[in-house]
Amino acid sequence: MAEGGITNMTGEIPEVDSDLNEDYKIVKGFFSARSQVFQDLMAVQQRVLLMDQSPEADQYFKGQKERATSPNTKQKRYFYKMMTRVGDEMQNKEKIIPTSSKTINLEALDICMAPGGYSATVLKYNRLARISGLSLPKSEGGHDVLLPKWQVNRRINIEFMDITMLAAEIGFPHLVSQEYTDASKFSDYIPYESQAFDIVFCDGQVLHTHTRVGGSRHEPARLTAAQLTIALRRIKRGGTLIVLLHQVYSPPMIRLLESFSQFSKISLFKPTVSHAHRSSFYLVAKDVDSGHERASDLLRQLRNSWRTSTVQSFNVNLPDDSTGRYDAFKTIEEVMQLFGDKLIVLAEPVWNIQKQAMEKKFLASG
Ligand SMILES: C[S@@+](CC[C@H](N)C(=O)[O-])C[C@H]1O[C@@H](n2cnc3c(N)ncnc32)[C@H](O)[C@@H]1O
Repeated sequence: MAEGGITNMTGEIPEVDSDLNEDYKIVKGFFSARSQVFQDLMAVQQRVLLMDQSPEADQYFKGQKERATSPNTKQKRYFYKMMTRVGDEMQNKEKIIPTSSKTINLEALDICMAPGGYSATVLKYNRLARISGLSLPKSEGGHDVLLPKWQVNRRINIEFMDITMLAAEIGFPHLVSQEYTDASKFSDYIPYESQAFDIVFCDGQVLHTHTRVGGSRHEPARLTAAQLTIALRRIKRGGTLIVLLHQVYSPPMIRLLESFSQFSKISLFKPTVSHAHRSSFYLVAKDVDSGHERASDLLRQLRNSWRTSTVQSFNVNLPDDSTGRYDAFKTIEEVMQLFGDKLIVLAEPVWNIQKQAMEKKFLASG
């Protein structure tokens, strides 16, 4: 979830010239013509965005950033508890975790795990599950792990690393030559190399505290691409993938969701217990067929997205950048024609929760 992430007041990841972007216009036109819920959300967002320039908004930002940059023990504990509550809500609604009577030795991969609320949820509903976690080291600005007894519980293993620097795992072991200043930050390590998982969580959020990042605008793309690459390479056929995403109505998001709909059964989950006013939501992809042609296409695009954003972020000079191009097989109109109506059905509950929460949080008194 978004605690500590780089977002604005409404919980959006800032878009670059989004309103000018032709694809955005097409998508917004499509949804506006067919969904009253979408229209209502856009209207509320517009009113709240105007408030973004107010002194109250400044104050709100300040408080949010302070809590994210140096949370005290009580706030860390609160965040962990909140994640377990979101986990409970997700389990009640989406039934993502089979009980131990149905699946013995359930294998869970929790990418971007700390503080560990979702891992706690897995163990709560399947006490025989095994947890493999990945998380940013504390020394680089990562969160504490608060999952009880994780150091001694043999069912829990956590490896600490910056997953966006796993060049070999993502498929480009030689992207940066040794002479390059930042070369040592990249790693050829491949975590959990020979393992496969029944359930994979991708709940990464770029942190204000992450020492390397320094507010780079490429970082959200690098993190999403790294998480999903690891997830698609490790998930068992028929497994379940849970991914934190933002803005159902952004064109790249729609392309991503359409891809997943081709090789898994998808639903969208938005918790009501926290972060309801933000644009964040979870993709729940069940029965994932990672061997499907569309899954391989997506994996290739994710790798290329990581390569492109990494090259830009680290100013890497490459003789040929052709493999970094994003392959759009269909125009956004074609995607909307094929998938838009289905997406409205999936997205309206998410939009409704956000709209109501924004009204309550920002507009109730006025
Ligand atoms: C919202 S928290 C995850 C909460 C967690 N799912 C839970 O249930 O408690 C986001 C996580 O992303 C991790 N993260 C952010 N950037 C990362 C990176 N580059 N590599 C590894 N982990 C990263 C942070 O360390 C943090 O633990």
